[in-house]
Amino acid sequence: MIKMIVANWKMNPSTLEKSSKLAKSINLDPRVIICPPFPYLNEVKKTGAVIGAQDCFWEKEGSFTGEVSPVMIKKLGCKYVIIGHSERRWILGETDNVINKKIKACLKEGLKVIFCIGERQEERKSKKELVVLKNQIKNGLKGLSKDDYSKIIIAYEPVWAIGTGKACNSDEAEKIRVFIKEIINDSAILYGGSVDSLNASDYINKAFFDGLLIGGASLKVGEFKRIFKKIKA
Ligand code: PGA
Repeated sequence: MIKMIVANWKMNPSTLEKSSKLAKSINLDPRVIICPPFPYLNEVKKTGAVIGAQDCFWEKEGSFTGEVSPVMIKKLGCKYVIIGHSERRWILGETDNVINKKIKACLKEGLKVIFCIGERQEERKSKKELVVLKNQIKNGLKGLSKDDYSKIIIAYEPVWAIGTGKACNSDEAEKIRVFIKEIINDSAILYGGSVDSLNASDYINKAFFDGLLIGGASLKVGEFKRIFKKIKA
């Protein structure tokens, strides 16, 4: 049984009006969590959708130009927050240490954390993916208690599969899911990376992920509805 579908809109759509319209169209179920850019959070919340932020800082307030705190997003109505997305790791240079601080700060505010991990192409080619994933989990969750783990949702998103149309084969993904489960048994585990209506059900029915993290396809109403129908069936 699918636990959640996270719609990660990244830096889209281009206007507030479009964000409201899109949210209304894809809010098909309380298990759909919409993560829009910060300026649209309030508007999307008004549609009745469950909302999450795409990132946040580790301090509550202060001199941190450009940053947004866990307290602020919580007050806006966010229940979830994505931390450690590969675009933040590899475009913005976010380290495991930074990710760890953010996760701790978010849990302190009672937010549920969608913690992204994933290996890069060269790491998979050299068969280092398991070591890489284990280190990301170990470093990202350093200092957390077993009780905290149940508030963490792990999103396995191989970097080479994100936005490329080259989704991870479901057998491969299942091996990774089992591996993650052995390290951290109490967290839900999602798959993300080029999910579409043709492959979505494989991650739930052939591999046994608890849900999906969907980027590109969450901006296309027809495709998102088709995905939802397939995984609910
Ligand atoms: P994608 O993005 O579905 O467009 O591959 C997934 C993600 O980055 O969360």
